[in-house]
Amino acid sequence: MGLAQEAKRVADEFDFGPDAVRKAVKEFIREMDEGLQKEGTELSQIPTYVTAVPNGTEKGLYMAVDLGGTNFRVCSIQLHGNTTFSLTQSKVPIPRELMVAKTSKELFSFLAKQIEEFLKLHHEDHFTGYLRRRQTGEHKEEEIFNLGFTFSFPVQQIGINKGLLMRWTKGFDIQEAVGQDVCALLQTEIDALHLPVRVAALVNDTVGTLMARSYTSPGKTGTLLGAIFGTGTNGAYVEKLDKVTKLTSKADVGAYDKSTGDMIVNTEWGSFDNSLRTLPNTPYDIELDAKSVNPGIQMFEKRISGMFLGEILRLALLGLYNDPNIPLFRDENSAQNDVHSTTQIHPGSGLMKQWGIDTSLLSICAGDQSPGYRVIRQTLDNEYGISAVSAEDAETVREIAAAIGRRAARLSAVAIAAIVIETGRLKPATTEQKDGVNPPRGNVESEGKGDVPEEEVIDIGVDGSLVEFYPGFEDHVRQALREVEEIGTEGEKRVRIGIAKDGSGVGAALIALVAGRVADDTD
Ligand code: BGC
Repeated sequence: MGLAQEAKRVADEFDFGPDAVRKAVKEFIREMDEGLQKEGTELSQIPTYVTAVPNGTEKGLYMAVDLGGTNFRVCSIQLHGNTTFSLTQSKVPIPRELMVAKTSKELFSFLAKQIEEFLKLHHEDHFTGYLRRRQTGEHKEEEIFNLGFTFSFPVQQIGINKGLLMRWTKGFDIQEAVGQDVCALLQTEIDALHLPVRVAALVNDTVGTLMARSYTSPGKTGTLLGAIFGTGTNGAYVEKLDKVTKLTSKADVGAYDKSTGDMIVNTEWGSFDNSLRTLPNTPYDIELDAKSVNPGIQMFEKRISGMFLGEILRLALLGLYNDPNIPLFRDENSAQNDVHSTTQIHPGSGLMKQWGIDTSLLSICAGDQSPGYRVIRQTLDNEYGISAVSAEDAETVREIAAAIGRRAARLSAVAIAAIVIETGRLKPATTEQKDGVNPPRGNVESEGKGDVPEEEVIDIGVDGSLVEFYPGFEDHVRQALREVEEIGTEGEKRVRIGIAKDGSGVGAALIALVAGRVADDTD
């Protein structure tokens, strides 16, 4: 078989057609319901103790830190109360050895140190003044910054600022931390440095995204869903409190405000369908999982998110390359059956190393419109040590990368569709929905579908490298949404998807603010 047919054969393995989408949506809805009722399910459906989304009028100065990807961010956020905010931030890469440290103290003391550096740099007067007054016992409670801790891993939340780590994801692995309260771990190290900071709220990045989107997006309807499609993937949505029976039926749970009748639920959809009832499973998915630090879990995430798509592409390309009969990355003038003399792959090439191909290559492939795929060929040469790539080779990489990206987007649509259907938002808006936690305000923003009345808009806030940088991601998502019967073309038009940057900063600050209010009320 020629290279073109082989490329098509591999690309076809990543097909995830309309029937598969519909079947997965049904399974997602089933798992959502199950997760609301009991613990230990595939979709964790974690109650976040956040019971309302903001409306843009909130004000004040807050701090936030963000742990969950390659960088640790520290920010202070001034909420202006008119849907705008100013943010000051610093960012440091997390040293690789701390992600897999022996003890959590190593990681958390590093985090507290970064908070100290930030305060010295950006809030020096406040910080030194506090330290001085602390020595004489004259410091005041109001001087302490309320901090929202964005911690983007599965956590069993037991209060607004209390949560036990269930498992690590995204390459982190510090076994000693599993089962511990991550807020207490951070507070202990903050206190050891005498910083004027109180960990007021524990926030998943998806919850932060939902809050940030609701604060900044004008319109009458509160945001339904905050979703991340980045290094990892996950979503948090507004659920009716009385459906969260695993929380409401228990007596011994932390305090939360019941008056809104809502509860933001962190689905932890990265682990949707770990048992592979409906998820696709190619030989490349199987190999990736087997060689990962957490085989058998985060199976949805392993097919969608940025941490994994590059590796899937690498395994698919390697499968072709390792077959001496397939002319991928071969010098045309050399003998066909001698693998080594025909290779164009340089020692150290990312193609030959686990995690050696970055997901950004998929975005480059999807965006390359140049004749003969010049950009793809240059990237393979400069960044991946694969030289003299032919246009046919580049076309093969492009085709397989596109199939992997399309499948990721169509799988993402499964989660969005299930949540839109399950929350009943497709039904015509009722008075209750219109006047819910978000009072009416503003006009429809520009990205809104002009012909959809504002009260019918189903607003979704998204963030992450994939949704931001992968060309055509949203188009693929929308195509799949239309294929789901309950949504169709009419329903899809009502879905407004908007980027919500800084969820882990402003979103966390907003939750710290709400947490402050709850603390005041219960005092
Ligand atoms: C984590 C989630 C997080 C998501 C996006 C996943 O690996 O389990 O908690 O929201 O990544 O960062």
